[in-house]
Amino acid sequence: MQVVKLAVLFLTAFLGRCQAQQRENSSSPWFCHDLDCPPFVTLDKNADYETRQYTPANWVSVNVQNYTYSAAVSKGFAPLFGYISGANKEGVRINMTAPVLVKVLPGDGPFCQNNFTISFFVPTQQGDTPVPTEPSVYLSRLPAATYFVSSFGGFADDTSVPAQAAALTAKLTANGEAFDSSAFWTAGYDAPYKLTGRHNEIWILKSDAAGRSGSTPAKSVAG
Ligand SMILES: *[C@@H]1O[C@H](CO)[C@@H](O)[C@H](O)[C@H]1NC(C)=O
Ligand SMILES: *[C@@H]1O[C@H](CO)[C@@H](O)[C@H](O)[C@H]1NC(C)=O
Ligand SMILES: *[C@@H]1O[C@H](CO)[C@@H](O)[C@H](O)[C@H]1NC(C)=O
Repeated sequence: MQVVKLAVLFLTAFLGRCQAQQRENSSSPWFCHDLDCPPFVTLDKNADYETRQYTPANWVSVNVQNYTYSAAVSKGFAPLFGYISGANKEGVRINMTAPVLVKVLPGDGPFCQNNFTISFFVPTQQGDTPVPTEPSVYLSRLPAATYFVSSFGGFADDTSVPAQAAALTAKLTANGEAFDSSAFWTAGYDAPYKLTGRHNEIWILKSDAAGRSGSTPAKSVAG
């Protein structure tokens, strides 16, 4: 039942894409399709991962504690979808964006539950950021940051996500990269009913040589 409800939410959220196939943003990568997604510059690239620099961006987020990635994402998606559907002080609808970003803080919660932050990108072109009315939903601003990014197809789930995160960590270690091992992110660009041509990413924050992270923690945005 929960799965069906979630599939319907995803379906509704991504439906707008069908009417907007013509809209092309030449500077946007293919995996964003016709959705707004945060701009970045690729600084470096090898066979296994790329180094991407993101500019500061606004996100709308919820925190969820659970043992599994899939349960946490299911739980976090609904209130965020509510927010873009009008659960905000202005009562406005916001177009679905990409990616759905999930920060994973492994084993932090009680009984080794993981902390997850599920976020939707809020483009500044959509005007002043509407204020969420659901108490669990909050606005945050991710500062400029540099991430190591690996890509994979298929579905991001409880099997692929830990495996892909471990693979990227191993590659970064082998290459002597300085990175923040306390957390990683998944970025998903496709609705669950899309079966082919899917694109998912693992992001790991680059550190400077002294081990400091290439960003500061997300800060709450007033108003
Ligand atoms: C939302 O999407 C529709 C259809 O693609 C588009 O016409 C409209 O301009 C978008 N609105 C904003 C605020 O980006
Ligand atoms: C994790 O999520 C599932 C599915 O929503 C839920 O049934 C379960 O109670 C959650 N576990 C915890 C420890 O919160
Ligand atoms: C983990 O999540 C809980 C509940 O949202 C929060 O109180 C706690 O501060 C989080 N821990 C970290 C390290 O973010």
